[in-house]
Amino acid sequence: MIHCICNNINTAAVDKAAACGAKSADQVQSHCGKAFNCGQCRESIEDRLALLSVNPAQLEAAE
Ligand code: FES
Repeated sequence: MIHCICNNINTAAVDKAAACGAKSADQVQSHCGKAFNCGQCRESIEDRLALLSVNPAQLEAAE
């Protein structure tokens, strides 16, 4: 799933950023070497980070 159309950040990229310590959408963008453009992806990225923080194993099953 693509979370950020502007910067082509998909679920795998969000997960990778989270595994490297990203705790916010801003940190995910930074990890990917990007910055927000329109910002419409912020909620989607934050939702993914929240899900990952609750149960990482569940995320793998959802892929
Ligand atoms: S969709 Fe992420 S900055 Fe536009």
